[in-house]
Amino acid sequence: MRILILLIATTAHAALMPLPAKVVAGQGSLAIDSDFRAATTFKDTRLEAAIARFHKRLALETGLPLNPARTLLTIDCREPGPAYPALNEDESYRLDITSQSAHLRSLTVTGALRGLETFLQLVMRESGNYHVAAIHIEDHPRYPWRGLMLDVSRHWMPVEVVERNLDAMAAVKLNVFHWHLSDDQGVRVESQRFPRLQELASDGNFYTQAQIRQVIDYARDRGIRVIPEFDMPGHASALLTAYPELASAPGPYHIERKWGIFQPTMDPTSPGVYAFLESFLDEMTALFPDPYFHIGGDEVEPTQWNNSAAIQSFARVNHIANLHAYFNERVQKILKKHGKTLVGWDEILNPGLESSAVIQSWRGADSLSAAAAKGYRGILSFGFYLDHLKPASYHYAFDPGNALGGEACMWTEYVNGETVDSRIWPRMAAIAERFWSPRDITSVASMYERLEPVSRQLTWTGVVHRTNLRPLLDRLAPDDSLRVLADASESTGIEIRRDARKYTSLVPLNRFVDAVPPESDFIRSLDQPSLRATFTAWTASKVTVPELIPLSKNLAEVGALGLETLNYLESGRSAPEVWRAQRLAALDAIDKPIAEVNLAAIRIVRQLLQSPVLSHSKEARSIR
Ligand code: ACM
Repeated sequence: MRILILLIATTAHAALMPLPAKVVAGQGSLAIDSDFRAATTFKDTRLEAAIARFHKRLALETGLPLNPARTLLTIDCREPGPAYPALNEDESYRLDITSQSAHLRSLTVTGALRGLETFLQLVMRESGNYHVAAIHIEDHPRYPWRGLMLDVSRHWMPVEVVERNLDAMAAVKLNVFHWHLSDDQGVRVESQRFPRLQELASDGNFYTQAQIRQVIDYARDRGIRVIPEFDMPGHASALLTAYPELASAPGPYHIERKWGIFQPTMDPTSPGVYAFLESFLDEMTALFPDPYFHIGGDEVEPTQWNNSAAIQSFARVNHIANLHAYFNERVQKILKKHGKTLVGWDEILNPGLESSAVIQSWRGADSLSAAAAKGYRGILSFGFYLDHLKPASYHYAFDPGNALGGEACMWTEYVNGETVDSRIWPRMAAIAERFWSPRDITSVASMYERLEPVSRQLTWTGVVHRTNLRPLLDRLAPDDSLRVLADASESTGIEIRRDARKYTSLVPLNRFVDAVPPESDFIRSLDQPSLRATFTAWTASKVTVPELIPLSKNLAEVGALGLETLNYLESGRSAPEVWRAQRLAALDAIDKPIAEVNLAAIRIVRQLLQSPVLSHSKEARSIR
């Protein structure tokens, strides 16, 4: 009984993610009703806009018609802070909630923004009423660079997709939006100086400069910096489609429809390339106010350089040992003229790169240590690749260590504007906790306990990671007939999908695999009392979508194995070892992706079969 009470008490504060640096629970709670109002005497347009958004979110979250009359949350802020969010700006805040009132204190407006998000996460419903528990919080981030990278080149992401994800990012205190704006499959920004980019390299899917400014303002209002990335000299097929004269071999080129690493590469020996970059970067550095500017630099395919006598001769005559390093040095000089610091993927780490550069490590933590040893600052992305569709617990185990921080990466070969939210959220929230909370916050059980309510709450920011899955299933088969199978399924990520069929950017992402989440909430939250009914439902699994029939048959088999196992558990008899080994082997035999989908259902029955209770005990116990 004591344990039960403790669990409930934990759940009462459970929805905080990232966990604050210091939390002290108080006595009682503050009621939230239609009168509730947050207010400040500090005059600042960003803060006033944030309070207006706060009231809107609170109204959504509670369903209460807010008619704010009584100030119950007072916000004290001392400085506006930088007009555009800055690396290392003060983001700290304190929040004191008693049964009478709440008080949010911060040095800067950004600190107040972070505190307002914490307050929203504390709102709880009990017996039809809303309240926040009395609490004292002192909070600040562990890392100053906490990002999400979104690839809008491989699949186009309209402005509204970007904006709703910025709202969700702010809700979990992320502060860097890394916008991967160009790749082989498209250049997504309007250039006034080089209009062939949007005319020939975008398929009509690009942001106008007005839209770029709108997104930057939107992000800034939420305390989020926007770092643009233009990938060069490789991953440049689209750009070279528009300007083939910049390539290392004669064109013509085409917008790439396949996924992978391709040969079209800018010519690092061409004066025309640097003249183009001088002008293009002059335009783009003016458009993006952040002092950091990402030039990509990953996966430079050397074929064109190796095959060009002119390029090889240039390198020989000028004693250039590494053409990529030479290119980066020249780009770094151009950026420096515009007051920008270069950021690039870890392949840019070469002699000659000025030590101000920031290295984003995607290939392993080793490259981050190598960069640090040479005096470079780094960002860790290795371990935070959302496109692998690994469980939140996998990402949660990585740690940026001594880096500036981390960035999760949403590459979009198998993700489009319709599915991207469910590929980012809620797993991104667990990663955000890794970037914000003290390093000793590592309990996976606690993370998952909070991830579920946080995921639900994220819905009120506008992301559709939960709400869009049902319509996507409905489009495949009506009447919710795929629900049982979908609840028990998990989508695979790039590692499986790239070999599963011949994908191109023209293949629609409208199948079952696109409509199920990477990690099944349903399976994770299954409890002992509901097992029998669930297994029974699985045994009856039937679908008509042809590619799902084998998957559904497997689910029926898992259900039958589950029922058999439950019968043993509940009979109090111990199961023969041979019987158990056979069942585990049967599960192993079907534990492989079908239609690019894994059955999460297998996990739960395997756990039951492996439970020591099955071989030793006289009574059934909790499987968890
Ligand atoms: C990368 O994943 N090629 C940065």
